[in-house]
Amino acid sequence: MIPNEIIDQILDKIDIVEIISGYIPLKKAGQNFKTNCPFHKEKTPSFVVSSSKQIFHCFGCGMGGNVISFLMKYERMDFIEAIKMLADKTGIALPRSSVGGKKKNSFAEKLYDINNLACNFYQRDLTGEYARAPYRYLVQRGLNERTIKHFRLGFAEDSWHGLLGHCKAKGVEPDILGKAGLILQNTDTGNWYDRFRNRIIFPIFDLQNRVLGFGGRALDEKTMPKYINSPETYIYTKGRHLYGLNFSKEFIKKQNYAIIVEGYFDLILPFQNDIKNIVATLGTALTVEQIGILKRLTKNVVIIYDPDKAGEAATLRGLDLLIKEDMNVRIAILPKGTDPDSFVRKEKRPGFMKILKESKDLFDYKLNVLTSKFKKGEPRGKAKIVEEMLPTLAKIKNAVLKSSYLKKMSEALSVDEESIRTELRKVRPDTAQTYPVRVDTGNSSSENLAELTLLAIVLEDTSFIKRIEKELDFGKFKDKSIGGILEKIGHFYKSGKKVSPSHLISYFEDNKIEEIVSKAVNIGQTIQDRNKGFGDCIRHIRKRNLKEAIRATSDINEINELLKSSISKN
Ligand code: UTP
Ligand code: MN
Repeated sequence: MIPNEIIDQILDKIDIVEIISGYIPLKKAGQNFKTNCPFHKEKTPSFVVSSSKQIFHCFGCGMGGNVISFLMKYERMDFIEAIKMLADKTGIALPRSSVGGKKKNSFAEKLYDINNLACNFYQRDLTGEYARAPYRYLVQRGLNERTIKHFRLGFAEDSWHGLLGHCKAKGVEPDILGKAGLILQNTDTGNWYDRFRNRIIFPIFDLQNRVLGFGGRALDEKTMPKYINSPETYIYTKGRHLYGLNFSKEFIKKQNYAIIVEGYFDLILPFQNDIKNIVATLGTALTVEQIGILKRLTKNVVIIYDPDKAGEAATLRGLDLLIKEDMNVRIAILPKGTDPDSFVRKEKRPGFMKILKESKDLFDYKLNVLTSKFKKGEPRGKAKIVEEMLPTLAKIKNAVLKSSYLKKMSEALSVDEESIRTELRKVRPDTAQTYPVRVDTGNSSSENLAELTLLAIVLEDTSFIKRIEKELDFGKFKDKSIGGILEKIGHFYKSGKKVSPSHLISYFEDNKIEEIVSKAVNIGQTIQDRNKGFGDCIRHIRKRNLKEAIRATSDINEINELLKSSISKN
């Protein structure tokens, strides 16, 4: 445990400019320092370090944070290692018990920490000297360095005690590693050993970018099984998460559809080829929970199947689930013998987009599959097809759609509509749980800019927080992270605590927050008239909130009330 007060002390004493310039040369530019970004390739410097705010930010790749984040990213240190180094430099003593973790206030957090520790370890080993072959393997499969880093891919060395030894040295008990699913115990001897050995490691993240578990792929095609996965743990339940969604959710929202694939590589290679609105189910059938998560982002999905698996009864039944949940589902079929990963490697983005364009409506697709499977010319075949189609048909809520499908079916099978209707009536309506439909608010980038600007203004002058609290409800912020940061600043402000960007960042310890805060700081430095900027942003957000509130109701009295109260506020 490293108490927050000590972290604050360290941050107060250390100078980010001094630390970063120890690694890369910095040039003075106005009130800031500039250089070429060490985290992505560039020719003109867009990496800015602010001495007054004690943060860095890259306008090119969006990376940002405080001095601790810099060390974690640049030196690949974990949090504790970074703190230790800075404590050494400043001569601040750390409490003895600080080795092995920080802020462990719940079991879940302990597991996240352990997983993150393991993730860093595997990541480091992939770039280590002896791991040339695994790294080459990934490169051979078409992954570039940036992608490998982005997905935090790693390598578990061919050892029974690699991770175990590493963690032991850090004072982590085997018991907790076992509960994280990272090590296993020999039932005879009671000895612990690594679960993942000689495998490429894929960390699985939640929406907050926390590591929930891992998948490990063998380096050749002989080793069985091809993939080993983390077991279910306290924090990881299979079927409740979608692989890659932490990276893709913004793209899904923006493009208003999600592509669903099966495997790790099937997600990563398209992603690298700029197809980023994509998630993976990791080889299992789509669950109601997963659909529920997606539904908050979009109602439109395209499922990509490799043609070998398509048409299996089980997959088709899984698709009915999507219809029942009121999703618009299309099916894209790849050429035989390919999967999204191999296909996109060969055909690149244009080929992939073509496949998406040629995707079929789920109903047509299913009808096609069934008519090629059963003899539609024979009564028995016909009956079978109708029988398989009925549950799908029954789940369609939209009456117009339903009747047009009915017609289509009757034509395709030359069965009269009325008899299909009769059969349909026998199918019991399903009474499964449904999810609330989200109000679609369209493109949100400029809206978030107003929120971000407010944060920027507060970071320049904390007293603005009081005015925001009076005018807006943080819960109504489009960007929940910004709302959360402002709320925190409000608390700090009330308790008389100093609020600096750098302290804020270490308080949250979240990549996204780092980036938001560092971006806001840079926006803040460009605002000439804070009072005017503040007014503009507040008006913009209020107007938006009002629009949404009106859109969400059809009650004229309520709309009148909304308008009245908004006029009185302006
Ligand atoms: P696939 O067999 O389609 O493999 O399994 P893949 O993703 O194409 O893998 P590569 O390209 O051969 O490396 C799809 C997904 O099913 C899960 C994994 O999540 C995999 O990505 N799976 C597969 C397992 O969990 N265990 C296995 O043994 C195989
Ligand atoms: Mn594959």
